[in-house]
Amino acid sequence: MSIADRLSPLRAEAARMESVLLRDLVADDPDRARDFALRVGPIHASFARQRYDRGALDALFALGESLDFDGRLAALFAGEHVNVTERRPALHTALRSGLSDSDSAMRAHAMAREARGAMQAMVAAIAGSGVTDVVSVGIGGSDLGPRLAVDALAPPGGGGIRVHFLSNVDGHAAERVLAGLDPSRTAALLISKSFGTQETLLNGRLLRDWLGDDTRLYGITANVDRAAAFGIPVERVLPMWDWVGGRYSLWSAVGLPIAIAIGMDGFEALLQGACEMDAHVAGEPVRRNLAAWHALTAVWNRNALALTSQAVLPYDERLRLLPNYLQQLVMESLGKSVRIDGADVDVDTVPVWWGGPGTDTQHSFFQALHQGTTVVPCDFVGVVRADAPHRANHDALLSNLLAQSEAFANGQDSDDPHRRYPGGRPNTMLLLDALTPQALGALIAMYEHSVYLQSVVWGINAFDQFGVELGKQIADRLLPAVRGEAPADDPVTRALIAEIGAHR
Ligand code: F6P
Repeated sequence: MSIADRLSPLRAEAARMESVLLRDLVADDPDRARDFALRVGPIHASFARQRYDRGALDALFALGESLDFDGRLAALFAGEHVNVTERRPALHTALRSGLSDSDSAMRAHAMAREARGAMQAMVAAIAGSGVTDVVSVGIGGSDLGPRLAVDALAPPGGGGIRVHFLSNVDGHAAERVLAGLDPSRTAALLISKSFGTQETLLNGRLLRDWLGDDTRLYGITANVDRAAAFGIPVERVLPMWDWVGGRYSLWSAVGLPIAIAIGMDGFEALLQGACEMDAHVAGEPVRRNLAAWHALTAVWNRNALALTSQAVLPYDERLRLLPNYLQQLVMESLGKSVRIDGADVDVDTVPVWWGGPGTDTQHSFFQALHQGTTVVPCDFVGVVRADAPHRANHDALLSNLLAQSEAFANGQDSDDPHRRYPGGRPNTMLLLDALTPQALGALIAMYEHSVYLQSVVWGINAFDQFGVELGKQIADRLLPAVRGEAPADDPVTRALIAEIGAHR
């Protein structure tokens, strides 16, 4: 059956509900707020402001059941080759959970535990070496997860080792990161699964030269030989494996910057939160499964309501990097138009994910969200208990969070068209009890599983990313032309290079 055929009951439900107002769905169903919500550990999720009624939700859950979500999750956890195009498993769950008793999952889990022992020793060695600063060099999945977790969880001015991140190949990024650092009291972590990524190798060389001493270089990679050739001996390298995708790797030794910033116990707590989410997702039926509900909501908004983008709005400054992190997780995983079997996908797949922290964004792009012609569904993420001592600020933050969710959904009529709020803007509310490592781990794991289940609906592989290769290949080819050593083939590129050359 084609995917479009499979999704046609959803479109019928959407057509049935076309003239139903979201505010009426809420007002007419007194139990909706309770029944459209779910608590999993430290996360309360409310889907009460999504634009579906009980009948449509039932059709969504039936879709998840007909696609055997339970079985597909079991296959993921067991280490089956869900990454079909690269013929390998995606066993990020084994980095934090021993939930499957399949041979490959148990082997992976044991390897991950052993690596955490080595990681703990490396954290202690770095802490004992007298360094004050660590620069983590990596990009994409070797950067965004650790960067998010450190930004979210490291205590401000905490007095421990300061952790910095360098990802962009732009030399200005290195200048900014290194300004004010003392090379004799800085260590560098080179994080690269392949140890072949241009940006990371160039920045790694830059750091090696700047340090003037390669005894404070550490590596995290699946390619120990390349790290050794670079000058990092095996005793200063932590492992990665091909069964963990880059954007799913923060739970592995790629999380070393997190462990340095918040301690190994904090890192273990992050894993524990993810493990608890794994247990929920693997154990609960579709209708009580948070990741399934989140994924099916995404499919509803994309394929039944034809919405083209999705915003993520963390109402906590410490989660300001969540949109950046999710952009890679979601769009690198689901930005596909070909099914696993090679046929074209006959429905739309991933929308554009974007966002930023509230309340700042209320004063930038929210105007368009309230009154623009494009309806953008939102994931709000709030944190109930603050760690900052400024109660008045936190009360204001929470009231803004609640107000925006309500305003998007309900809108407000007015005789003056300029002052009318149409409402009907669907949104999900994800409330964390507090921003602990466990809660962050659970939140990220929920998004990972939601992404996987969306890929199941669309019949695509969430674990490859061939789309990023072409640009890399052309950039390699163009390097001699940019250096003025060879002509470029493409006439437009040739003209642009001439322009660059004329103004260098
Ligand atoms: O952006 C493409 C990509 O392959 C990501 O999937 C990956 O996380 C990133 O590059 C970095 O790769 P590596 O860890 O091998 O340096």
